[in-house]
Amino acid sequence: MLRTHTCGELTAKNADTTVTLCGWVNVRRDHGGLIFFDLRDRYGLTQIVFHPESDKEVFALAETIRPEWVLRVTGTVSKRIDGTENAKMPTGQIEVVATALEVLSRAKTPPFEIDSDKQVNEELRLQYRYLDMRRAQMQRNLALRSKVFQIIRKYFTEQDCLEIDTPCLIKGTPEGAREYVVPSRVYPGSFFVLPQSPQQLKQLCMVGGLDRYFQIARCFRDEDLRGDRQPEFLQLDFEMSFCEQKDVQKIIQGSIEQIISKCSGKLLKWGKVESFTWQHVMDTYGSDKPDLRFDLPMTDVSDLVPGCGFKVFEEALKLKRGTVRALRVPGGAELSRSEIDAWTELSKELKAKGLAYILFKPEGPQSPLLKFFKDGFLDKLIAKTGVKTGDALFFGADTFKIVCASLGRIRSEAAKRFNLIDTATHALFWVTDFPMFEENDDGSLTFSHHPFTSPNIEQWKKRKEEPMKVHSVCYDLVLDGYELGSGSIRIHDPVLQAEVFEMLGISTEDQQKRFGHILHAFEYGAPPHGGFAYGIDRVVMILAGEPNIREVTPFPKDQKAKDLMLGAPAPIAGEQLKELGLHL
Ligand code: AMO
Ligand code: AMP
Repeated sequence: MLRTHTCGELTAKNADTTVTLCGWVNVRRDHGGLIFFDLRDRYGLTQIVFHPESDKEVFALAETIRPEWVLRVTGTVSKRIDGTENAKMPTGQIEVVATALEVLSRAKTPPFEIDSDKQVNEELRLQYRYLDMRRAQMQRNLALRSKVFQIIRKYFTEQDCLEIDTPCLIKGTPEGAREYVVPSRVYPGSFFVLPQSPQQLKQLCMVGGLDRYFQIARCFRDEDLRGDRQPEFLQLDFEMSFCEQKDVQKIIQGSIEQIISKCSGKLLKWGKVESFTWQHVMDTYGSDKPDLRFDLPMTDVSDLVPGCGFKVFEEALKLKRGTVRALRVPGGAELSRSEIDAWTELSKELKAKGLAYILFKPEGPQSPLLKFFKDGFLDKLIAKTGVKTGDALFFGADTFKIVCASLGRIRSEAAKRFNLIDTATHALFWVTDFPMFEENDDGSLTFSHHPFTSPNIEQWKKRKEEPMKVHSVCYDLVLDGYELGSGSIRIHDPVLQAEVFEMLGISTEDQQKRFGHILHAFEYGAPPHGGFAYGIDRVVMILAGEPNIREVTPFPKDQKAKDLMLGAPAPIAGEQLKELGLHL
């Protein structure tokens, strides 16, 4: 090695020894003829000092150095004089008095300061990710990410899982997003599809008798990006045979508990992992992934509405699955008109037609709606919601889906506005008993998890009459308001699988074309099996306390799905297009 020590390890115990360090120049300071700077590497910072009375050539060279140059410095470890120690730095008791200096690399002035907590334009950070990575925040986040990988590998290996790598050049596997495709040169006009997840391959591993599988799997999804989504991301992907839902949950829960206990200073709210049904969380919080570090439940007031006098509410009940719900916001009476307008806009973005409200001011309830209310309605609302002076009530009146989306969002905004989030804990819980299908706007059915999820077999018998009442054996894990992961018990019977495809409107011919391999495989003895996958980037983001997964992804795409550093995607040469048989 070019060094004897790293920049993070020297202490007073090393005093009077000769060492050689390598690293980047952090910040240079000149004091009373002395040259000081911190040398930085992944392990820390060490103060280096050059005395003018030392070797003339060395001192002259030291005078030329600039931030981010890469140096090799040899010198003597020396205790700092009293009063100049830095208790915040692990190496703060010492400095290295340089006797030799070698410039390994010069550097241009970086486009942003490396040694600073100042906000840097994200575009610039992504364009120069290799410089951004030198910053303490990125170093911390990527080290945490690596630690999470290690915990996962150790844990799942101890659970008797085989780590199996599945390919990325495959055929489409539906998870609800658009796909990234790769043209084939050998078969012009044909394409590989990058996996949205290894779903089918891991199920085929179960048919293959591997019994327990895990993988840190790269997945690709071309979907609208948000802070918690990237076009490519990592899943902890898991599958096991001869299991029930609770067996999968136990193993997955164990891994997340271990990650939290080893990587977070916070304890679990409730002291354990809770479990709620989908219906309960939707009814109560308007979301299938509510942040339960705060409560703020909604109240169904539909039963009070008939004859209430306010048309908007009465009309809503006439809709298919129409409902009227109220959200009580403690302290909400102090909200300003402009704040309420902003929340109303948010609701409208989620397809709500408005956001009715009542402010319970000390001088009495205030709302543009009161004039419409028939006698007694307000009192019934107060009694049912438990609203008090100083609070506000917000209302959603529409289909269940729209009301949940709108009030669920207002619930989150209210928690932020009134500081209701207990950030000292993690709220980790299961959501179970999802509906098997979701209705598209045109009334056709789509899967709510993926089409390999087993329905509740009893309810399945009534699928033709009441498809929306069929639940699946599916379970999500939610952490602090983020969907960490999803899983299910799978279908292993080819007849049932074909029935599900049929309900989804996939013709027999299409079933064979798209999923023939799995239907065929199930004819050769498929074990009952189930599994789960959680987003590793999301786990790391939450534990690092970051607002988006770009902060914990080494080389992320930007919010428009571009790699700003590499400049990808990019056009390819005409020659290459021709070779691939592509015409644009
Ligand atoms: P699902 O589609 O719910 O399930 O994905 C599982 C988890 O993967 C993470 N995730 C993402 N993370 C970052 N960026 C994205 N674009 C993104 N999309 C998903 C989320 C999500 O909860 N095959 C099934 C799992 C199974 O049934 O075993 C699946 O992929 O944290
Ligand atoms: P309008 O009758 O459209 O003037 O609306 C009266 C109030 O009710 C306004 O505060 C709207 O924001 C609100 N509002 C209108 N439609 C709905 C709805 N479907 N759900 C909740 N609030 C609504």
